[in-house]
Amino acid sequence: MDFDPNQFIARNVRAIPRSGIRDFFDIVQNTKDVISLGVGEPDFVTPWHIREAAIYALERGKTTYTSNLGLLKLREAIAASVAKHFHAGYEAKTEILIAVGVSEAMDIAFRAILNPGDEVIYHEPCYVSYSPGISLAHGTPAPVSCRAENGFSVTAEAIEKVITPRSKVLVLNFPTNPTGGTMNRAELEKIAGLARRHNLLVMTDEIYSELTFEGEHTSIAALPGMKARTIFLHGFSKAYAMTGFRIGYACGPPEIIEAMMRIHQYSMLCASSISQEAALEAIQHGEADTVEMREQYRLRRNFIVGAFNQMGLPCHLPRGSFYAFPCIRSTGLTSKEFALRLLESEKVACVPGSAFGPSGEGYLRCCFATAMDKIEAASERMARFVKNLG
Ligand SMILES: Cc1ncc(COP(=O)(O)O)c(C=O)c1O
Repeated sequence: MDFDPNQFIARNVRAIPRSGIRDFFDIVQNTKDVISLGVGEPDFVTPWHIREAAIYALERGKTTYTSNLGLLKLREAIAASVAKHFHAGYEAKTEILIAVGVSEAMDIAFRAILNPGDEVIYHEPCYVSYSPGISLAHGTPAPVSCRAENGFSVTAEAIEKVITPRSKVLVLNFPTNPTGGTMNRAELEKIAGLARRHNLLVMTDEIYSELTFEGEHTSIAALPGMKARTIFLHGFSKAYAMTGFRIGYACGPPEIIEAMMRIHQYSMLCASSISQEAALEAIQHGEADTVEMREQYRLRRNFIVGAFNQMGLPCHLPRGSFYAFPCIRSTGLTSKEFALRLLESEKVACVPGSAFGPSGEGYLRCCFATAMDKIEAASERMARFVKNLG
C-alpha cells in the first residue's frame, strides 16, 4: 500500500489555509526590483542601545534558560510600563508571562481557554492568525465585519448580534492590523458592559498601541471591572522595531497565566534569554525611539493616504498602526487580481485585503513602515497602474 503522508495530518490542520501574506511574498521574493509595502514590520533597524544590550547579554554569558514565566526583572519592568501607559496594575510574579512574541502568547491563551465548539468573537478584517489560532485550539471563529464608513471600528451593537450561548471570548485589536482602525473610550465602555453582561473573557491585542497617531489610546483592561476578565497581550516587535527578537507578553488573572504557563513550559520552556535582556533595555530606555519612529510613520501615513485619495482609491485615515487600507473596488478587480497585476506591471507589492478575512475584499493593505522615497516611488507607480486600468 502506498504511504500517503497527508492521511497523518490532523483534520483541523488540514482545514486551515496557508497565510495569504506568505503566499504572496513567495512571489515577491522571486521578482526583482520590487518596492514592498507588504510585510508588516518596521523598516528601522532595532535601536543600537537595544542591540547592544543583546550583545552584552551574550558577552556576559546570559545564555541559559530563564524562569518559565520569563526573567523576573523584565516582568517587573513590564508591570511598571503597563501601569504607567495603560493604567492597569499587574503583579509581576503571578500575572505576567513572557512569550515568544504576541503570536505565542495568543496561541497559548486560546489553547488554555477553549474547549471544542467554544466561540471566539473578533472584528474583521483582522490579523491573519486569529481565525487559524482559534481553529487550532478547537474553537469556532465568529467574525464581526467592520466598515470603512466607521473607520473600521467595531460597535457593541454589531458584537451583540453574533453572541450566542457558546460565545466565550472576545478578541479586540486596536489600532487594528490591517485597517489602522482605533476605538474611542465611550464605545469601549459599551463593549466592556457587553462582556460583563454576557460573561465573556476579553483578549486585547495591544501590539500597535504605541503607534496611535490621534487621540489617546485606551485599553479595555483599564476600564472598571475589566482587568479580572481580560488577557492583555503586548510585545516588542512593532513599537521597538524588534520583530526578530520574538518577545511578547501576556498579563491577566493569575489562574489564566498559570494555565498558559503550563502549556508554555512544555512547548517553549521559555523565551530567548538574550532577547529578554534586549527587551528589558527597550522597555526601560526605548520610549524616545518609539516616539521618533511614530513621528516618521505619521509623515509617511499622511503622504500615502493623500496619494491614494488623489489617484482615485478612497482611503480613510488610519488613526494608528502602520497600515493604509485603500478601497480598490472602483477598478472592478478583486483585491488579489489587483495585487498580482500591480506586482507584475509596476513591481509594487501590497497584500490583498482578502488575506485578512472575507470583509477585507475590495481593499489592499499597504504598509507604510517603509522609507519615504520608496513610498513616493511606489505611489507614482500605483497611480500609473490605476490610470492605465481606466
Ligand atoms: C495584530 C497583530 N498581533 C500579533 C502580531 C504578532 O506579533 P509578534 O511579532 O509579537 O508575534 C502581529 C504581527 O504582525 C499583528 O499584526
